Amino acid sequence: MPDIGSTSPELLIELDRSRARGLRAQVEDGVRAGIRSGRLPAGTRLPSSRALAADLEVTRGVVVEAYEQLAAEGYVTSTPGSGTRVNDVTPATGNGGVPATRSPQAALRVDFRTGLPDLGLFPRAAWARATRAALAVMPDAELGYAGPAGLPRLRAALAGYLGRVRGVACTPEQVVVCNGFGHGFSLVLRALVDAGRGEVAVEVPGYTEPRDQVRWAGGTVHAVPVDDQGLRVHALAATPARAVVVTPAHQSPTGVVLSAARRSELADWARTVDGYVVEDDYDAEFRYDRHPVGALQGVLPDRVIYHGTLSKSMAPGLRLGWLVVPPALLDAVLAARQATDAMTASLLQAAFAEFLERGDLDRHLRRSRRVYRRRRDALVAALDRALPGARVEGVAAGLQAFVTLPAGWDAAEVAAAAEQAGVGVYTLADPEADPALRASSLILGYGTLRPDQIEDGITRLGALGPAVRRPGRRGPA
Ligand SMILES: Cc1ncc(COP(=O)(O)O)c(C=O)c1O
Repeated sequence: MPDIGSTSPELLIELDRSRARGLRAQVEDGVRAGIRSGRLPAGTRLPSSRALAADLEVTRGVVVEAYEQLAAEGYVTSTPGSGTRVNDVTPATGNGGVPATRSPQAALRVDFRTGLPDLGLFPRAAWARATRAALAVMPDAELGYAGPAGLPRLRAALAGYLGRVRGVACTPEQVVVCNGFGHGFSLVLRALVDAGRGEVAVEVPGYTEPRDQVRWAGGTVHAVPVDDQGLRVHALAATPARAVVVTPAHQSPTGVVLSAARRSELADWARTVDGYVVEDDYDAEFRYDRHPVGALQGVLPDRVIYHGTLSKSMAPGLRLGWLVVPPALLDAVLAARQATDAMTASLLQAAFAEFLERGDLDRHLRRSRRVYRRRRDALVAALDRALPGARVEGVAAGLQAFVTLPAGWDAAEVAAAAEQAGVGVYTLADPEADPALRASSLILGYGTLRPDQIEDGITRLGALGPAVRRPGRRGPA
């Protein structure tokens, strides 16, 4: 069983060891800024000095002194036995970062929503440094119309990064910078439709956006089932599709890895039908206790259109992603990029190139992986304790778990009853998924929740038993 012994809350503080300002002052600044902006509201328990020191790789004395200073300034109160908590201080300016309107989810105590990383982990200081450095050296010409494929510096940095981290085989010329998967796929789809490949297969259950796009583009969607080895390639071969969208490293939403046998069947299929595989590599960066699964593109570079995005690894609001396009489709994809708003914001591209080259993405991923792994462990342990009849899958990677409910529980009823109890849990979003699967499974996103919140939410979910379980009813097989 994973170690969930520590309930010390997590706190993101960015330390810059190259700065003259000392580490203690930087810890103080980080906590103070969090409190003043409203990110650390009154009552928030801060990590113990021992836990925070271990997290930041500083001595415990650094954190103890920082907490003492913050206590002297009235920002926090330390009580022996119950730790250090944030005091009620009025934000210094404006609305202090506190949202003006409450989101519909605000009523939920614990929300296992999916699709978002923890935006509080965004490495603001490192990003700001990268932006400043990039701006200082950026040629004026790059502030103009800098070309549809992206800045050469970023394309080169991405080709190197993808080769090193994902096993992607490409030249910088094959990299096309775009505004995330949704945008990149629209460009690719245009090229596929123009090449007579408007019949597109998708995974079911699966991410619904690509199929919506195929329909908007006037193409035809073919649903192909997924089992415990991933996409069923024999079922794909029975359709007239000559393009397929897959999530091989971590199937969305089941979390299954496309097996080696299926990978080779898929490669055979693509060669036989002269088809293309659209690889959506949306969250491969977060893998916890299994070997990395290399990108399919690395073994089938002429047939795979690879998509990567910063939406899970950093923040969807950046709207930054990339394609690796086989040479035969490159001109068509670039023509689509040129025709639809010409390019991705060049300052953003330059900042990300700098961020990559400095190793800041690797650092950010290493750090957030540790945080998410603790949250994943807390979820698995809490489910094991509070819902012993449930089966949890897809948790070796990513930011969400695929949970098969205990026999007799109905997913829609669970979601409704959980909402009443202040807990947001979600049924399969895919309307084309098998109804029995939809009735028996939940998707729980854990990326934005602290371990103590996860524990609280799952305890409440477990307590729903009598409300959602009808005597004598059997669960779906
Ligand atoms: C399966 C899948 N692919 C891709 C994305 C990312 O999309 P984008 O890069 O357009 O934000 C998501 C986001 O939720 C996703 O769930």
